[in-house]
Amino acid sequence: VSRVIPVETFDLVIFGATGDLSRRKILPGLFRRFCAGQMPPEARVIGAARTEMDVAGFQQLVSDAISEFDPKNKATADDMQRFQERLDYVAIDAKGDDGWTELAGKVRKDVVTAFYFSVAPSLFGDLAERLRSNNIATSESRIVVEKPFGHDLQTAKALNATLAKHFDETQIYRIDHYLGKETVQNLMAVRFGNILFEPLWNNHFVDHIQITVAETVGVGGRGSYYDQSGAMRDMVQNHLMQLLCLIAMEPPNEFEPNAVRDEKLKVIRALDPVSPSDIVRGQYSGTDKLSGYLEDSENPDSKTESFVAMKVAISNWRWKGTPFYLRTGKRLRDRTSEIAIVFQDPPHSIFEAQEERRGNVLVIRLQPNEGITMRVTIKEPGPGGMRLIEVPLDMSFADALDEAHDVHDAYERLIMDVIRGNQTLFMRGDEVEAAWAWTDPIIEGWQERGDKPRPYDSGSSGPEDSLMLLHRDGRRWREVR
Ligand code: BG6
Repeated sequence: VSRVIPVETFDLVIFGATGDLSRRKILPGLFRRFCAGQMPPEARVIGAARTEMDVAGFQQLVSDAISEFDPKNKATADDMQRFQERLDYVAIDAKGDDGWTELAGKVRKDVVTAFYFSVAPSLFGDLAERLRSNNIATSESRIVVEKPFGHDLQTAKALNATLAKHFDETQIYRIDHYLGKETVQNLMAVRFGNILFEPLWNNHFVDHIQITVAETVGVGGRGSYYDQSGAMRDMVQNHLMQLLCLIAMEPPNEFEPNAVRDEKLKVIRALDPVSPSDIVRGQYSGTDKLSGYLEDSENPDSKTESFVAMKVAISNWRWKGTPFYLRTGKRLRDRTSEIAIVFQDPPHSIFEAQEERRGNVLVIRLQPNEGITMRVTIKEPGPGGMRLIEVPLDMSFADALDEAHDVHDAYERLIMDVIRGNQTLFMRGDEVEAAWAWTDPIIEGWQERGDKPRPYDSGSSGPEDSLMLLHRDGRRWREVR
């Protein structure tokens, strides 16, 4: 039996409901929650977008989107029909008056109300203002905003200030979908739900930490957005930074939104500036079959990075001297994301010297095949004497969980957290600003120096120099497969 946590009746309005994110993630996620029985009988989803369309048109769009982007969904036609009955649609002009009175007539005042801004950030201010001036949102309503949250510290501050004019911080849900991933939350469960790890979770016992988010896709189709961002703004400032915070933070007193976010913020503030010699940027080249970055971005002179690897230091008691190595890139060999906590060797070996042995590593795999592995040393079974080997203690979520607990998409979980009013897995305004304050000087440095990313082959592990980042410290990247 599925353990579904009930939520209150809600009206969820999705601005940009016909757009890519909505069709790919938000609508399929809501449908799954509906099928799981988590949507109360009176809950409704109201699409809002510029396109003129009647409700039947939107219902069709939703069912098409779910077939296209969640093809494995085993729901029946009857489920879909019942879900469609919960849908409504309003054609709306974010910058004008059209549609607002109609929307006001549809959104109830006596239920939880949430407004998902799945639109360009340049429209956030208009939407926030009109939701208020038309008396649609109340002081209890929630708004959900997507990344990119600003382009740098200055724009992020301006965005925070605009939203703050109309909504209190407790009403603003800034999405970083990495925080909704099953394993990312499991990281906190592993750290704080066991006695085993926390005593070792510091610079006395951890040699270093590796965070890898490798993708096989290029930037084709989103070239114009991506070329203005690069891997640093698109991935490091948000997703990798959030992962780093969850690993590095002090144990919060309770699993409560501000307790957790206070601890994350302290980590970001303790990050040292990164020197140019500790960062490697790359840009993928094409092959016979695949276009290169310069073609994909349609900018033959682009100096934007599609790969970045860096060594990051945290100046606090827990982590001083224990480096965090981060890397992320597009068009790499495999789609693999993982966090590896590499422990130090035992202080003294009582066994005869053998060929190179490696110590304990705790690996948290985000994708694919989400799970957790602990590499431990044991005696090789059999009569061959005391030979040591390393074996993985492996926990794969897919194997460990039955269907009722199958791995959920990050968006379904996060949307339901919004309805529940739980901000723990959302970024607070000051966190986002602190993250920009750390990344801005790095990016400005590249611009001032006219830094050019190193080319790397599509399907490789990134530029050779990124290997050197660890080699020169006597370490090496884990093979990611
Ligand atoms: C997005 C980035 O935030 O995350 C994309 O804008 C990236 O460039 C994506 O591809 C990766 O998400 P996931 O969940 O597929 O790892």
